[in-house]
Amino acid sequence: MKKSKVIDYFITNKNINTKVKPNSKGEAFAPSNIALVKYWGKRDLELNTPNTNSLSISLQDKGATTAIEVINSDADIVYLNNNLVDYSSDFYKRIIRFLDLFRFSENYRYQIKTTTNIPVAAGVASSACGFAALVLALDNLFGWELSRQELSILARIGSGSASRSVYNGFVEWEQGEDNDLGLDSIAKQLDYTWNELRIGLIYVDKSKKKISSRDAMLSSVKTSPFYKTWPEIVSKDIQDIKQAIGDKDFYSLGQIAEQNAISMHALMQTSIPPVMYSTEDTIKNMQKVWYLREYDKVQVYFTQDAGPNLKLLFLDKDIKTIEANFPGLTIINPFNFYNYSFTKK
Ligand code: PMV
Repeated sequence: MKKSKVIDYFITNKNINTKVKPNSKGEAFAPSNIALVKYWGKRDLELNTPNTNSLSISLQDKGATTAIEVINSDADIVYLNNNLVDYSSDFYKRIIRFLDLFRFSENYRYQIKTTTNIPVAAGVASSACGFAALVLALDNLFGWELSRQELSILARIGSGSASRSVYNGFVEWEQGEDNDLGLDSIAKQLDYTWNELRIGLIYVDKSKKKISSRDAMLSSVKTSPFYKTWPEIVSKDIQDIKQAIGDKDFYSLGQIAEQNAISMHALMQTSIPPVMYSTEDTIKNMQKVWYLREYDKVQVYFTQDAGPNLKLLFLDKDIKTIEANFPGLTIINPFNFYNYSFTKK
């Protein structure tokens, strides 16, 4: 398996610590991230290496905190938000498959306790922060002190977008060219801040999505007649959005991010069978955004991932208007790094 070779490369063959005593603990937080230019399509299904670069912004203190310890037990135990996760669930199996890569001794069993302050599996990138927090917690448990780029590679094996959740701020995940172990498919933090930028989370529906992003992207790649145009769209959007970030040109940033999300959803909708994550409420909120831009001249844009929820992009000067139009909105200031320990690295 290529995945185990990656673990050998970074850990097993490097003579770094792979032994811990029962009850040793590791703990870590990782922020969720929202892609402004999306990742949609894998070139390697096992390594989660993508067909294109992508660019995201991390959600500051919204994300997952994971505590991990080695226990004396026949099976791994997983808690999510204080509830024991059923052994037969897909969620449990996915975590265990990933943990199997880190079972350095036959009798290692883990207990994992994850708490999130964002809805799970509803297109608010919970798998991204979940796998990133798990990898950071493993690093803490074993005392590896791997670099952020190495941790990004390990997190990517759990979930592609998790590669970007080991950092705060703007992050670009470079697709890489290595088709052997994907060692150059790494996310990197971009050295820009934008203190006026705000992100609003609209929870249209917090329930679990019906089709995973993994299956949906596979289907888009295979069946959408428009998928062949996607790499070109992304490459231009990445170039232009980096320019917009550098220039603090909010109009361009918003336009590019919104258009990129709509293009990704067009790929889903033109797949066979079609994938439609939007609900009536999603569309109503999109129309409200377009109305505010056109008639009220408020600069607000949306982006949408593999779920019905929307994320708004706006500037702090417009907070009052946005709150009045979207009651109950969760507002994030992504560059407010001062209040917690997950710092810029
Ligand atoms: O990492 P995954 O398998 O959850 O896929 C994420 C896909 C999108 O959220 C839709 C886009 C992205 O770049 O995060």
